[in-house]
Amino acid sequence: MKKDNQKPIGIFDSGIGGTSIWKEINALLPKESTIYLSDSKNAPYGQKTKEEILDLSIKNTELLINKGCKLVVVACNTATTNAIDYLRNNYNLPIIGIEPAIKPASIQTKRGIIGILATKGTLNSRLFEQTSATIDNSITIIEQIGTGLVELIENGKIHSTEMTNLLKKHLKPMLYSKCDYIVLGCTHYPYLIPQIKEIVGNTVRIIDSGEAVARQTKNILIRENLISNSTVDIENIFYTNKDKTVLDLILEDYKRATVAYLDF
Ligand code: DGL
Repeated sequence: MKKDNQKPIGIFDSGIGGTSIWKEINALLPKESTIYLSDSKNAPYGQKTKEEILDLSIKNTELLINKGCKLVVVACNTATTNAIDYLRNNYNLPIIGIEPAIKPASIQTKRGIIGILATKGTLNSRLFEQTSATIDNSITIIEQIGTGLVELIENGKIHSTEMTNLLKKHLKPMLYSKCDYIVLGCTHYPYLIPQIKEIVGNTVRIIDSGEAVARQTKNILIRENLISNSTVDIENIFYTNKDKTVLDLILEDYKRATVAYLDF
């Protein structure tokens, strides 16, 4: 039997977006084995009710626990903002979530105007409302639901005219407001950074929470004495419950990554 610290880190998302978080975790913690669940069959979560998002988050978490994971990373803003309290209260292992980085953006903005692009499920959540309430009153936050973006990414249309047109439409209100920070509040969106930069130009900073989640994962593993100290038998397994073509493409540079279909 594997020692606790050699067990894998479990990661899940509504689809392939959370691989942007996996890449940060893998870069910071290369000795860790990982199991990633891409619940693409049920994407997007962002349009679902809180109850549906909770049920899917429970299903994913229990599967990762059954596969022997030592810690779970909810690599999805929508699942975190709707389900993290329940998961932490009901499962006996460390659970790490991801939330839009509006706090750091609000501290760093010079113009006092920040934009946030996220799913409806995240922007309408109570946790997001609570976090927004802690932001200085003088800061204007322009919220924008990224309707349709996740679907295009899941269908492999990251670099398409459809994507460029949709992004232009979603980013317009932020550009009019003259914001100097755009927060990406969905783990699918880091894959759109080159296109977003083309649209908004160099004066607007784009931030996401990927690196912060990786650092937090490392801190918790150290605190819980669960950090892996061996490079023997490291495995990075990615399960998807839909077509694996896009996942294969996104992970093609990662030689240790194994992508497989799993009905979950
Ligand atoms: N990647 C997700 C997030 O961070 C979910 C997107 C969706 O399924 O709507 O919010």
